[in-house]
Amino acid sequence: MKTGITGATGQLGRLVVEKLKQRVDAESLVALVRSPEKAADLGIEARKFDYTKPESLAGALHGIDHLLLISSNEVGKRKEQHENVINAAQVAGVKWIVYTSLLHAGTSSLNLAPEHAATEELLKSSRIPYTILRNGWYTENYTSSIRGAVGAGAFVGSAGEGKISSAAREDYAEAAAVVLTNEGHVGKVYELAGDEAYTLKDLAAEISGQVGKTIPYNNLPEEEYAGVLKSLGVTEGFAHAIAGWDAGAAKNDLFDDGHVLSGLIGRPTTPLADSVRKALA
Ligand SMILES: NC(=O)c1ccc[n+]([C@@H]2O[C@H](COP(=O)([O-])OP(=O)(O)OC[C@H]3O[C@@H](n4cnc5c(N)ncnc54)[C@H](OP(=O)(O)O)[C@@H]3O)[C@@H](O)[C@H]2O)c1
Repeated sequence: MKTGITGATGQLGRLVVEKLKQRVDAESLVALVRSPEKAADLGIEARKFDYTKPESLAGALHGIDHLLLISSNEVGKRKEQHENVINAAQVAGVKWIVYTSLLHAGTSSLNLAPEHAATEELLKSSRIPYTILRNGWYTENYTSSIRGAVGAGAFVGSAGEGKISSAAREDYAEAAAVVLTNEGHVGKVYELAGDEAYTLKDLAAEISGQVGKTIPYNNLPEEEYAGVLKSLGVTEGFAHAIAGWDAGAAKNDLFDDGHVLSGLIGRPTTPLADSVRKALA
């Protein structure tokens, strides 16, 4: 029984491989990656696998029974890339695909949602049994800005009073590993999010407490926040995307109180305070 992991050289994929190796023999795992040389330290077989090269994908999937399809990071090109993988999996006789989607992909107002929803539809209309992991926001999306915020004396954003149920990448990685190594998940769609919901004001208060000085949260209109990001060197497109995601957060697009993620991993999700501490360390 072989399990293939796409995106295994990415941040989430590396953690998934680590969690899988704690549960199954490394010989049963295959990293399906653009650059096998980057996967050498994973300690598992690595095969070249590029979502944009459909002609090569079915061959690379030879002998793979279960496939974790980690969504591509090439926003705007993902539906076609994922379709290439699903088509190849059908040709190669893959028996189960687990896909990392987006929280509330069917209803979310985030601009990221349509590509995930389209991929989910492709999976549902394929002949392959599937499981959908609708991953919520990574806490790291926010904690990666903490050092800059402390330096600047304020945390800025556009999320208003929106509640954010983020979880650490490690929590989502563990959920993927749990699902891949246990039965009973075929056909399921899981809405995965952190146990704790916080506003960016709460996050700023947590940072303030840990650094011992007040770091206020400054809420800005979306356009103004995009402007701040651009002034910090973020590209125009990415600055607008980040500000837009915060605007979605303000509408509670990042909120979920189902506690499905902690249920799957059998422990509470990583507390916000721990993620802040890690970012400040
Ligand atoms: N929930 C969230 O908050 C959140 C945030 C960011 C992203 N995401 C989504 O979750 C995914 C995993 O997150 P992450 O943090 O691990 O992102 P990441 O570190 O950017 O990893 C993305 C992975 O996708 C691979 N990839 C990109 N294009 C590919 C292609 N054409 N063919 C094969 N592989 C390709 C990358 O390969 P290389 O290693 O060769 O670059 C990388 O391993 C992202 O790709 C994105 O869809 C979710």
